[in-house]
Order: sequence, then structure tokens, then C-alpha cells
Amino acid sequence: MNNEETTLYERIGGEDAITGMLDSFYKKVTTDPELSPYFKNVPMDRLQRMQREFFSSATGGPIKYSGRPLAHVHHPLAISSREFQRFTQHLIETLQEKGIDEQDVLDVIARVNLYADEITNDTTVDG
Ligand code: HEM
Repeated sequence: MNNEETTLYERIGGEDAITGMLDSFYKKVTTDPELSPYFKNVPMDRLQRMQREFFSSATGGPIKYSGRPLAHVHHPLAISSREFQRFTQHLIETLQEKGIDEQDVLDVIARVNLYADEITNDTTVDG
């Protein structure tokens, strides 16, 4: 159901669903040969905790993001638009595998895309 009384957070299944989803998602990202080098020396515990907060708050859930500003964290990494798109593609596939409603998948991606400029360092379409 896609009515306006539920948040996206509720529709995708709340905190437990987000935790499970991020586990699968990070397996894909960290085994993708184009993306894995970024995560080589990163403490994944903190990253996943921060990502959980971020996704919960970005989908209208009750949790506040307490991490560093996204541009501050990502701009020094020099991530291209192409890499951002691969990252997003893994997210789409994860949500589809979890059986999330098609419209909700599109809504999650639309919200994530709002942060593209904070994540990437270029403005070209294909990076
Ligand atoms: C919309 C997409 C993205 C979101 C919402 C996002 C979100 C986050 C968050 C919340 C953190 C934790 C910040 C903190 O520790 O305070 C983080 C860290 C990180 N992200 Fe992203 N991220 C995105 C895309 C990407 C992409 C495309 C890459 C690389 C291909 C990437 C690589 C990293 C790395 C390496 C860190 C750890 C940095 C460090 O601890 O020094 N992120 N991200």
C-alpha cells in the first residue's frame, strides 16, 4: 500500500528491514571490484551504523543522523558519477531482492539521488 499516511520508512519495513537490507547492500558494494577499493581501510561497524541512521532518517523514520556531513566525508574520496550510479544500482537490486514494492524502490532512489552532489566530485553524466 502506498497511501500518504505511512512513511517510506514504515513501508519498507522499519528498522529491522533497513538493517538487513544494508547488510546485503554492503556485501554487494564491498565485493564490486570498482567500488571495493574505497572501503579497504574503513571501519565497517561505524559506517553501517551511520548508514542505518542516515537511511532511517532519509526515509522519514524516527531516527536522527548523527554522523559527519556527507560532503565532508565523500568529497575527499573523489567519487565519480559513474561510481555513484553503480552504488545506486546495487541499492536498487538489494531492494528488489527484498521484495520492496516497485514504487517504494523508486522513492528510495529518488531520495538517495538528492545527495549526489554531496557524494560525487564531478557533474558529468557518465563520470
Ligand atoms: C547517496 C549515497 C551515499 C550515502 C547516503 C552515503 C552515506 C554515508 C554515510 C552516512 C557515511 C558515514 C559518515 C560518518 O562516518 O560520519 C559514509 C561513509 C563513507 N562512504 Fe558513503 N554514502 C553514499 C555513497 C557512497 C559512495 C558512492 C561511495 C564510494 C564508492 C561511498 C564511500 C564511503 C566511504 C569510503 C565512507 C567511509 C569514510 C570514512 O570513514 O573515512 N559512499 N557514507
